[in-house]
Amino acid sequence: MLKIINVVGARPNFMKIAPVMDEMLRRGDRLQPLLLHTGQHYDEAMSEAFFADLQIPRPDINLEIGSASHAEQTARIMMAIEPVILEHRPDWLVVVGDVNSTMAATLVAAKLSVKVAHIEAGLRSFDRAMPEEINRLVTDALADLLLTPSKDGDENLRREGVPPHKIRFVGNVMIDTLYRQLERAKSSPVLERFNLQAKNYCAMTLHRPSNVDDKATLAGILDALEAVQKRMPILFPIHPRTRARINEFGLQKQLARLPNLILTEPLGYLDFLQLYSNSRLVLTDSGGIQEETTTLGIPCLTLRPNTERPITVSEGTNRIVGNDPEAIRREALNALDHPAQALRVPALWDGQAARRIVDAIEAASPG
Ligand code: UD1
Repeated sequence: MLKIINVVGARPNFMKIAPVMDEMLRRGDRLQPLLLHTGQHYDEAMSEAFFADLQIPRPDINLEIGSASHAEQTARIMMAIEPVILEHRPDWLVVVGDVNSTMAATLVAAKLSVKVAHIEAGLRSFDRAMPEEINRLVTDALADLLLTPSKDGDENLRREGVPPHKIRFVGNVMIDTLYRQLERAKSSPVLERFNLQAKNYCAMTLHRPSNVDDKATLAGILDALEAVQKRMPILFPIHPRTRARINEFGLQKQLARLPNLILTEPLGYLDFLQLYSNSRLVLTDSGGIQEETTTLGIPCLTLRPNTERPITVSEGTNRIVGNDPEAIRREALNALDHPAQALRVPALWDGQAARRIVDAIEAASPG
């Protein structure tokens, strides 16, 4: 029996672990998977709602870490996870993505000589001002099995000196979940709830510290939306960090001048899938949404200076716009009139990544 601890912590982890847990449970004669939630995200809308929507089993272990500075959050996760790993002595610790929980769990397992498999390895924005880039570099330096979503990930890892036998190109596991849930999402009432007509509205998300933690930058982005929301409504499910900054910076007055920019609480997986898959255009600073829009051929503008997912630009519908208000306004209006077409869905974004991931873990296990 291979004992495996699967680690999740924050919203973008949940849709990646769902198909992997599923696949491991299906191989219950050989694998004994446990699910550990660090509790980095804890609000009902940021965590529970995803477990319900994606039918993820309840975590076997919940560390209930919560929010704190980067150092404190990372340290708390490390301190809480160490005794759990010592108690269970798993054959593998599986981490996903690039959040603080990913890096913290990896550091502890590596020092206890527990093998680490990293799902979504090799992505690089080459921008160390992003906390996620630091998490990616540290996690990939320590992991024993690096499971990449696209070939650029393999190249980045090889360039950093990772031995090729540790790298496996398995495809994009987020897309497994996307395809599995597409049908169910169609019964979400989200369009009716906000009175939206398919292909006649935009969807937006914004939560990166570099966009929302500085008053002038956040105000500039909101300002850029004025002309866009005159053309069609923009639905904006708002991350708790962004909500807090809007209040702190007193930007409510500015929002009142944008009547067609509709703010709402963070949506669950199915509602959000229904929302963006029917939208005319998505504006985002998320990583995963760049991939989901590419897969469904929905035009996407990324409000960041760079992306760790370049394949969404070279093969998909994504454009990197940055956060300059004039560029956002120009590119958004242009995208409404001339929507980007996807060349193709990237290789191995086919709904079968979880199977390849669990195959790779089994193949890399002795005996
Ligand atoms: C984290 C990830 C980021 C990911 C994002 C998705 C890191 C470094 N960042 O950023 O890569 O794209 O999740 O959401 O791991 N908060 C709540 N309730 C919650 C969670 C957060 O109110 O359930 C608020 C708190 O004020 C907290 C702030 O959001 O301080 C930031 O949360 P944190 O987990 O530190 O980072 P995110 O910005 O969510």
